[in-house]
Amino acid sequence: MVLWAGFLGALAPGAGCTSSGGAQSCPVAPVDPPCPDAAPSFAEDVYPQVFQPACVRCHSPTGEESKTPLTSYQQIYGAGGVTAKEIYFQVFQACLMPPPSGPELLSDVQRQKLLDWFACGAPDD
Ligand code: HEC
Repeated sequence: MVLWAGFLGALAPGAGCTSSGGAQSCPVAPVDPPCPDAAPSFAEDVYPQVFQPACVRCHSPTGEESKTPLTSYQQIYGAGGVTAKEIYFQVFQACLMPPPSGPELLSDVQRQKLLDWFACGAPDD
């Protein structure tokens, strides 16, 4: 996935978050994360285990807070990956999503699943 590797590479060098001592552990995202043999499925792993529990309360058409719904692959991948890029930035680099002050903190397992999915080119499966 050369294009996607470029996408991550363009965002990742030198960036990343360190744990600030808050409730959310936010380790530095690797610059060029490998795609695992067992790539996570969007429909079976990433959506129900990450987006649904951690994002959708706020990011839905009737969301409590955000006007950006994240309830389908199209909404998450967005126009040619624009939304996905923003998600990667917010979660792995700025550490602002999900909000560190809220109840929807991501576990290490959830973060890894999302990172693996990005590293595998964010397949719609
Ligand atoms: C407690 C509510 C809440 C949760 C949970 C939450 N967000 Fe957000 N998010 C917001 C708000 C509020 C904004 C900024 C204002 C807006 O989008 O309307 C925002 C902004 C964003 C943005 C920047 C683009 C935008 O919509 O302005 C992205 C990308 C994003 N969130 C992704 C996520 C992801 C991915 C998750 C889950 C891992 C998540 N958020 C969980 C409330 C939330």
